[in-house]
Amino acid sequence: MPVGTLANVKTVTPAQLRDTGAQMVLSNTYHLHLQPGEAIVAGGGGLHKFMGWNGPMLTDSGGFQVFSLSEMRKITEEGVTFRSPHDGQIIKLTPERSIEIQNTLGADVIMAFDECPPYPATRQEVEAATERTYRWLERCIVAHQRSDQALFGIVQGGVYLDLRSQAAVALAKLNLPGYAIGGVSVGEPPELMAQIVQTTAPLLPPEKPRYLMGVGTYKEMAIAIASGVDLFDCVIPTRWARHGTAIVQGERWNLKNAKFREDFTPLDETCPCYACQNFSRAYISHLVRSQEILAYTLLSIHNITELIRFTQRIREAILSDRFYSEFGHWLE
Ligand code: GUN
Ligand code: ZN
Repeated sequence: MPVGTLANVKTVTPAQLRDTGAQMVLSNTYHLHLQPGEAIVAGGGGLHKFMGWNGPMLTDSGGFQVFSLSEMRKITEEGVTFRSPHDGQIIKLTPERSIEIQNTLGADVIMAFDECPPYPATRQEVEAATERTYRWLERCIVAHQRSDQALFGIVQGGVYLDLRSQAAVALAKLNLPGYAIGGVSVGEPPELMAQIVQTTAPLLPPEKPRYLMGVGTYKEMAIAIASGVDLFDCVIPTRWARHGTAIVQGERWNLKNAKFREDFTPLDETCPCYACQNFSRAYISHLVRSQEILAYTLLSIHNITELIRFTQRIREAILSDRFYSEFGHWLE
């Protein structure tokens, strides 16, 4: 899922997004609640109609975004209180409130309101957050009012594999329509993320979607897919695009580099995207140097296409039993 925090994937129109092959878009409860507010999104016909995207949508619950405001927030059993960065007003998000907002926004998949402990954190702290996340999930299930929206639970547990296992087994019993692994990519070493995913994903029901939140790179995705993960969201393709960086065959290219100034070949000859089919490295380099908005659009289109193509190739390899022979090198 490309990230569309404020009901848009930055610099890319829905028609362009559709052409990248992306099937589903993530948006954020926290940001949409602050701006423009869920009532306006609902007034516009709900998230899909409001933003002109008729494909699947997922909203994250807001907890994770609030936790990154470490200075300005307070967590209790009831929920999280914080000051709006827009006008300083005090806002409270609880499991019930997050679900109510997500019911109003109207995405196809909504996420449980969870507590993502920081890294590093003591075992005691992580255990408390993991247990609270479970109690909050129970409250989310009770609060959830729309049977046309799938509520996914989120496994926390930090880097403590036994806490991860306990949480995954407990969540699996709730028979939810899908499950996520949260609390990764928060600064832990890559080997630990791999261990977390390899421990947690196999304990979640294989017939349900399994979603690794906030990931990731080719390597992270390959490792997670080998453990059974189906779904990802990541800002990398669009954020890097806005920094003038193209992802080309797994490498990061800075288009400001002098070597691209007179390079009239496409970013990637093998890429079917609109940017690669119609423009040269020299042209995109010129746009990036001039800080033209079209630079970010073309690079976003290319980078999203590139990541989606990676997952498409993996899907085809899995279906014809070639995953380990073709993608095994990413697992080393
Ligand atoms: N996005 C990335 N990680 C997380 C997480 O742990 N929880 C939620 N709700 N969203 C996330
Ligand atoms: Zn391309």
